[in-house]
Amino acid sequence: MILIKEFDLKELESCFELDSNTISLWTKKQWENEFNKKGVKVVGILVENKMIGIYVVHIITDEAHINYFSIKKRFRRNGYGSLLMNYLIRHCEKLNIKKLLLEVSEINSIADIFYSKFNFSNVGRRKDYYKDGSDAVMKEKYL
Ligand SMILES: CC(C)(COP(=O)(O)OP(=O)(O)OC[C@H]1O[C@@H](n2cnc3c(N)ncnc32)[C@H](O)[C@@H]1OP(=O)(O)O)[C@@H](O)C(=O)NCCC(=O)NCCS
Repeated sequence: MILIKEFDLKELESCFELDSNTISLWTKKQWENEFNKKGVKVVGILVENKMIGIYVVHIITDEAHINYFSIKKRFRRNGYGSLLMNYLIRHCEKLNIKKLLLEVSEINSIADIFYSKFNFSNVGRRKDYYKDGSDAVMKEKYL
């Protein structure tokens, strides 16, 4: 069974654990800060009751910033990322969001293909943005 649902602070540990085993973007404190930020939604996808992916979106008026998007390694390439992204898009459409924005490392070619599939376009670049020195490519999609 596949379930997509919004998470609250109770799921802090499992979000941190999934992140630690995937892209290691945030510390536990940073995850806590995300949960506590106004306008932030943390949404997870569960398969047979196990969390296998998460997105974090920050809604500011009619824009939604995708702060986090990841699927557990062994569940990738099975369509779960697309399911989650379609859910995110539908959710934002219902809220009358006009634009989705995100940043992704210039060396993350898989994410680049993934976001192209959803018609995100490149709109800018932040130099040396990530710990490894890579640039962030800024992408957006109008709804
Ligand atoms: C990007 C990511 C979320 C995709 O999740 P996923 O569940 O594997 O995605 P899907 O199975 O729905 O694939 C959707 C499309 O993405 C592309 N894609 C996904 N994995 C790919 C790979 N390994 N190689 C090439 N294209 C790939 C394909 O176009 C695919 O469509 P197709 O299967 O019809 O060819 C996943 O790879 C991930 O979590 N990566 C690490 C975190 C990350 O980079 N997040 C984004 C930046 S913050």
